[in-house]
Amino acid sequence: MILLVNGPNLNLLGEREPEIYGRETLFDVERMVRQVCAERGVEVKAFQSNSEGALLDFIQAHRKEAEGVILNPGALSHTSRALPDCLRALKCPTVEVHLSNIHARESWRRESFVSEAARGGIFGLGVLGYKFAAEYLCRGLGGKPRVEPPSVAEAEPAKRAQLQGFSEEPLPVDPSARGDYE
Ligand code: DQA
Repeated sequence: MILLVNGPNLNLLGEREPEIYGRETLFDVERMVRQVCAERGVEVKAFQSNSEGALLDFIQAHRKEAEGVILNPGALSHTSRALPDCLRALKCPTVEVHLSNIHARESWRRESFVSEAARGGIFGLGVLGYKFAAEYLCRGLGGKPRVEPPSVAEAEPAKRAQLQGFSEEPLPVDPSARGDYE
C-alpha cells in the first residue's frame, strides 16, 4: 500500500496561484495516482492536512503497512524537522514531490529538510510528478503493468525482469543494434 500525503494549502490546488501550481485539483491528483497504482495492483491511502501534527499522526498510523510514501509537504518542507524524523522511522521509501521548481523560486524554498529523509524527489513537473513517483514506487513493489508493451511481453523472463526494472543486471548489448546509434 502506498501513502499519498499532501501538506498545507494543497487542498486549494486548482484555485491557488494556478500560474504556479496549475489548474488540476487535489482530487485529480488522487484519482491519477489511484489509477496508476490500481493498474499495478497497489492500494493507495490518500491524506491531506494543513496541520503538521495531523500529517505526522497519519504517517505514523500507517507505518506498518506502508510500502511507499508520496509526499508533498508544501511549505513544511522548508521548516519541519519532525516530518523528516517521522519518515526516517519508516522502513519504506519516500518520494518527495513539488509541483513547482522550488530551486527556481524564492531562495527560502530551495532548502527542503524533508529531502534528507527521502529516497528521491521530483520538482517542477506539475502534477505529473505524482504520477512518476507512483510509477517508481510501484516498480519497487514488483507490481506489473496489466498490459505489457509487446517488447517486454515477448522477452525471455530474465530480460523481461530487467526491462521492467526489477534487476540490477545490465542488459546485454546487441552488437547488431549498435550501428543505429553511431
Ligand atoms: C510546493 C512548494 C512549496 O514551497 C510551497 O510552500 C507549496 C507547494 C510545491 O508543490 O511546489 O505549498 O510544495
